[in-house]
Amino acid sequence: MNTTLIYAHRGASSLAPENTMAAFELARSAKAEGIETDIQLTKDQIPVLIHDENLRRTTNGTGFVQDYTYTELRMLDAGSWFSPEFSDCYIVTLDEFLRWFKEKPMFLNAELKTNVIEYKDIERIVYEALKKYDVVERTVISSFNSDTILRMKKINPSIKTAFLTSTKMINLPDYAKSLGADALHVKHRLLDKKLVKSCQKEKLNLRVYTVNRPSHMKKCYQLGIDGIFTDFPHQAREYRKLNHDNRKGFF
Ligand code: G3P
Ligand code: MG
Repeated sequence: MNTTLIYAHRGASSLAPENTMAAFELARSAKAEGIETDIQLTKDQIPVLIHDENLRRTTNGTGFVQDYTYTELRMLDAGSWFSPEFSDCYIVTLDEFLRWFKEKPMFLNAELKTNVIEYKDIERIVYEALKKYDVVERTVISSFNSDTILRMKKINPSIKTAFLTSTKMINLPDYAKSLGADALHVKHRLLDKKLVKSCQKEKLNLRVYTVNRPSHMKKCYQLGIDGIFTDFPHQAREYRKLNHDNRKGFF
């Protein structure tokens, strides 16, 4: 059984404002093996790391990411909503993030947020950035939108992709396979032994989000899935140490 890798979800988002450089730095200090981040496009087609289409929840701005240029977005405060000590945090471009990430021995899960707005050309723009920094091989592209998976595979059939879902579906692994995806990323309540088995049969990697509770972490480790996305990478490392050698007979 492989070790379950820990991806810091939106960075170490329990410790710092999600998807900011502060959260990514803390993910690295927590020794997470990977970082998960969310990508949207600005009005001038710059890929930026922000979870919501709308600026309201995580910045002091209003309206939609797609209606502003990056120069405009760069002025927003993306940290005070979390805590005043992070008031210097701002919305990061994918390019700035990759400049930092390139030197770190980590994996990346770039989630393309195309399920609400289908940003034109986002797949090609993101792919070009990954290529520029030579990180394609340690990146997996995921999306809730099947068309994004299909488009990515058309751009480069060997780039790793994952179909993301929170919906229970019969034959989910078959569906992911039919898209050409290499992995399935599911919400934790969809995880059971049957899904693990069918992913193994289809040779699909299986990763689970968002795994924050110790009991959920334990279940993931004992089932030996490929990865978890967690807001608590420190604790996930500690728990993995405790659970990894004791996986037999979980069910
Ligand atoms: O990529 C896993 C997870 O991030 C998907 O959901 O809404 O947190 O981006 P969300
Ligand atoms: Mg995400």
